[in-house]
Amino acid sequence: MTATKGLEGIVAATSSISSIVDGVLTYRGINIDELAEKATFEEVAYLLWHGKLPTRKELDELIAQLGEYAAVSPEVIAGLRLYPKNANSMAALRTVVSSLALYDEEAQDMSREANLRKAVKLQAQLPTVVAAFARIRQGLEPVAPKKGVGVAHNFLYMLTGEEPDPVAVKALDKALVLHADHELNASTFASRVTVATLSDIYSGVTSAIGTLKGPLHGGANEAVMVMLDEIKTLDNVEPYIQNKLNNKEKIMGFGHRVYKNGDPRAKHLQQMSRQLSELKGDSTLYEISVKIEELVTGQKGLKPNVDFYSASCYTLLGIPRDLFTPIFAISRVSGWTAHILEQLDDNRLIRPRAEYVGPVGQHYVPIEQRG
Ligand code: ACO
Repeated sequence: MTATKGLEGIVAATSSISSIVDGVLTYRGINIDELAEKATFEEVAYLLWHGKLPTRKELDELIAQLGEYAAVSPEVIAGLRLYPKNANSMAALRTVVSSLALYDEEAQDMSREANLRKAVKLQAQLPTVVAAFARIRQGLEPVAPKKGVGVAHNFLYMLTGEEPDPVAVKALDKALVLHADHELNASTFASRVTVATLSDIYSGVTSAIGTLKGPLHGGANEAVMVMLDEIKTLDNVEPYIQNKLNNKEKIMGFGHRVYKNGDPRAKHLQQMSRQLSELKGDSTLYEISVKIEELVTGQKGLKPNVDFYSASCYTLLGIPRDLFTPIFAISRVSGWTAHILEQLDDNRLIRPRAEYVGPVGQHYVPIEQRG
């Protein structure tokens, strides 16, 4: 038995949800480039769950269902008020999503219909709890969700308490489309491992959120913004990046386990970052980002991943940086739940082996004789 570090190149499941072949990402066989230009996030969520794009009636029903499920129980909001105001926002999300199960009567119902309903509930409720936590920690009252609007619109509305700008809604909607699914990434794998023990869908999504939080995965978008904030000016890009590269430090938002010639989602986010900068009349963040890319790609051959330009996009949308990774989760919960449903449709316990490299032939030594 020989271990493959990081399971690189190991095919651990069959899936018909999304694929990455020759650097091209598809959801249910549709190129992400096409979906980014034409689809709404709700259409994509339906596509991931059902394997086909919705009819107008099916889409309207899904939007109505999302509106119906978006409000969370008062106990969940009361729980959020008890969290420390300076709690890490992904830790808060991980905790509150786990608590959602306590107030769902069908949390333990493992039927496919109940699990599909819970997938829609989770999709509807994640934006509500992220926005509620963001307001409560500022000493503001949570804003109740709206009915009949899309996820991006509702989230921005609940975050600010104001009707969002249509340009902001469209930009966030596209970002949600781009983040919705990504084959067997670390958090999706975690969700599948969890439910493969026949644990419930809330446990699967809670595992996934804990996994997404790390800076080598979804947490990179916040880490990119920390870097942009530290750099501050265009003149500072070169010394800052050079210093990191000389010290063999990683530049957040670059590199990918699967894509070696560039992440197909990054170009859409770069374009969005440029457009939002033009609209705002301040291109500092965009220009700093482009200069970082020139240096890192030029010197290391590493290309930006999905997290790099999403940092400037979200900042230009007025979103605080510690909500970037929760926003990733608001989108990716569609993919996680689609994978959970797929796993349970043809389940087998996921239990790999480890290559043992520890000592052998040892014996128990009485405590008095231990050095
Ligand atoms: N900056 C500098 N060097 C890097 C970077 C980077 N961002 N990424 C990889 N490298 C270097 C490594 O130091 C290593 O060099 P070495 O062989 O000289 O030691 C080599 O490239 C291979 O890197 P690994 O970390 O082994 O590659 P792996 O496939 O395990 O990791 C990962 C992929 C985690 C994405 C990595 O590129 C990274 O840490 N990037 C920064 C964090 C990031 O942006 N994560 C988000 C990924 S997208 C997502 O999850 C949503």
